[in-house]
Amino acid sequence: MGASGKLGRYMIGHCLERGHEVVGVCRAQSVGKLDDVADRVTIVPGDTDDPDVIARAVVGCDGVLTVLVPWGVKGYATGTAQAVLDHAAPGARLVFSCGWHITRDGRDVYSWKLRAFVAVFGWLARVARFADLRDQVEACRRIFASDTRWTVVRGSDLEEGPGVGLPVWSRHVGDPVLASNRTRRTDFARFMVHALEDDALVREAPAIVGCDTPSALAHGGSGSGAG
Ligand SMILES: NC(=O)c1ccc[n+]([C@@H]2O[C@H](COP(=O)([O-])OP(=O)(O)OC[C@H]3O[C@@H](n4cnc5c(N)ncnc54)[C@H](OP(=O)(O)O)[C@@H]3O)[C@@H](O)[C@H]2O)c1
Repeated sequence: MGASGKLGRYMIGHCLERGHEVVGVCRAQSVGKLDDVADRVTIVPGDTDDPDVIARAVVGCDGVLTVLVPWGVKGYATGTAQAVLDHAAPGARLVFSCGWHITRDGRDVYSWKLRAFVAVFGWLARVARFADLRDQVEACRRIFASDTRWTVVRGSDLEEGPGVGLPVWSRHVGDPVLASNRTRRTDFARFMVHALEDDALVREAPAIVGCDTPSALAHGGSGSGAG
């Protein structure tokens, strides 16, 4: 869901590499962004918060990867999450993306920089009506409350560039392993796809960081680990 965005396109690449059969949903005006993979992916054009679109797209899917974005002020993220929760097959793995600003249990510890960004960007975006961070918060509240086999992957600041490997994760922002706050976008996508087959991540909200960053090397070891 959200296949034509930057994260979505990386996820398609990782899925195809692993031999998964892929159905991608993206807004009708964005279908052209998937031209290069159109012969290998089934594309369902439509808004990801449209329950009919989602219901059609998830038929027969063992897993659903969903990009949650706060764009617009009409509850797009919440509608997207709800449609996936309602229509995915019982027992399917549901993996959602968001940022560190989402907290599951209120035990994350945020830097003043992140708190200031969320406050200022959140307010400006809402006033200008181009995004509403509260929409992503509500979407995740519903996911956390659901009894589906969900994972909410919380991305750090992102950068482009070649992948360096599976990010390291921790349960709480503020844990030393996450201090570098930097992940390659393709590795974020790699983690989303990895989560489909890692049962240790069911009903977890891992906050991730690049495995080659100083904080990961100093505190994380390799692969993933929970703090
Ligand atoms: N950017 C960061 O630094 C950062 C940091 C941490 C976490 N994250 C998380 O990473 C995920 C992907 O973020 P990204 O920044 O890399 O973006 P992205 O992958 O490019 O995804 C943006 C998505 O939003 C859709 N979109 C754009 N405008 C929209 C609108 N007005 N209404 C509805 N959908 C719209 C795009 O669809 P079209 O292709 O149709 O335009 C695309 O699917 C998100 O879950 C985000 O919370 C991002």
